Amino acid sequence: MTNSLPANFLWGGAVAAHQLEGAWQADKKGVSVADVMTVGSPTSYRSITDGVLEGEYYPNHEAIDFYHRYKEDLALFAEMGFKCFRTSIAWTRIFPKGDEEEPNEAGLKFYDDLFDECLKYGIEPVVTLSHFELPYQLVTKYGGFRNRKLIVLFVQFAEVCFKRYQNKVKYWMTFNEINNQANFYEDFAPFTNSGIVYQPGENREATMYQAAHYELVASAKAVQIGKKINPAFEIGCMIAMGPVYALNSKPENALMALKAMEKRYYFADVHVRGFYPEHMLRYWERKGIKLDFTQEDASDLKAGTVDYIGFSYYMSQTIAQRPENSIFDYDETKDLVSNPFVETSDWGWPIDPIGLRYALNWFTDMYHLPLFIVENGFGAYDQREADGSVHDSYRIEYLRDHVKQMKLAVTEDGVRLLGYTPWGCIDLVSAGTGEMEKRYGFIYVDKDNHGNGTLDRSKKDSFEWYKQVIATNGEQL
Ligand code: BG6
Repeated sequence: MTNSLPANFLWGGAVAAHQLEGAWQADKKGVSVADVMTVGSPTSYRSITDGVLEGEYYPNHEAIDFYHRYKEDLALFAEMGFKCFRTSIAWTRIFPKGDEEEPNEAGLKFYDDLFDECLKYGIEPVVTLSHFELPYQLVTKYGGFRNRKLIVLFVQFAEVCFKRYQNKVKYWMTFNEINNQANFYEDFAPFTNSGIVYQPGENREATMYQAAHYELVASAKAVQIGKKINPAFEIGCMIAMGPVYALNSKPENALMALKAMEKRYYFADVHVRGFYPEHMLRYWERKGIKLDFTQEDASDLKAGTVDYIGFSYYMSQTIAQRPENSIFDYDETKDLVSNPFVETSDWGWPIDPIGLRYALNWFTDMYHLPLFIVENGFGAYDQREADGSVHDSYRIEYLRDHVKQMKLAVTEDGVRLLGYTPWGCIDLVSAGTGEMEKRYGFIYVDKDNHGNGTLDRSKKDSFEWYKQVIATNGEQL
């Protein structure tokens, strides 16, 4: 029995290359899918343009220019006491077009320098290989992950990274939020892990399951190769977790919640257990979906299971059964309802700290693996005062409430938790909307949604708060 978090708990922060690095063409970097995405708003998604167009504003091109300012930013992370730093490797820095035979040395060197800078402060890099930043050419030439060829290309990229950074990086993840592509109903094209732009009239669902299958195989192959390169690697998956609650105790709603959880999290089954659950096979049969799924794929999935589950947690969701949905097939555009017990953010995201404890317990009960909360946070509008200060008590409150629940999951429920890296530890470009003003950071970056600003960094109130949390290993919240 312990009442505290483990002494080696990995407190830190999380970002993704395309959301903060900028320098979109520096040192031979190629164009990624993020480089052809415009800005949206709290109520409208970003659009994908047909290549990079004159006169359009692309927020990821400059982002917060971390590429040139990472030393300054890491010094601030170190000042907060970070034990780890989660970022991703921009695929297009290493393979600018995605299908070259040889990697780009300048890109590799950038991450050598970045990881060295982390290690200088005793900060452990935690690295995602693919975080919504596929080389754009893999979309135009191959159709993204609708093409089996992408498996080979991803594995080549992964192998180069594993070999190059084998003595600098221990914690890896393959595909960021692999399950968020299951949201294929909306007219929101970017499947940014998969690089799929749907064609009119296409059976989106069939395409999505096929692409996800190729990604799961690619992940499993990468895990196998990574373990050969360095058996001490810890290679995880990364799942977007938002537990689905039943609206009330009506049995139909309880069953609907269970079916929604099954359908959203089968990805974790495959990553962790190495095979697809029965309900998915039945679902595909019912829908007439036939996947290109070989015997070799099945063996790869079995041989490349993950060491831990990394996951993001922002919100829970709530569901009720529609009477016409008599077979209880989950459809996220139709079945979700609002939860009368929780508030929402300015972007309509439910705020539910207890959902984090629920998620930690659910993953543990299902898979009995170590967990890593690699994203959690509160996107909000901040007001920077004339003296540069930002009084973000709402962010502190959100994080405090979530950390409390996280601690309970460890101390009361026995969850094995490796660490906690709040999302967007420095303000960066939103993945969903492309806005800068949906801010998550402990560090404010002077830039607005239209690209205006000095890019100067300043500490918010949450900076000192988080510093104290880390210094006391979560005792003083
Ligand atoms: C997760 C992603 O979906 O949520 C991040 O892994 C993303 O890339 C984060 O930024 C927050 O979402 P948003 O849309 O507020 O940026």
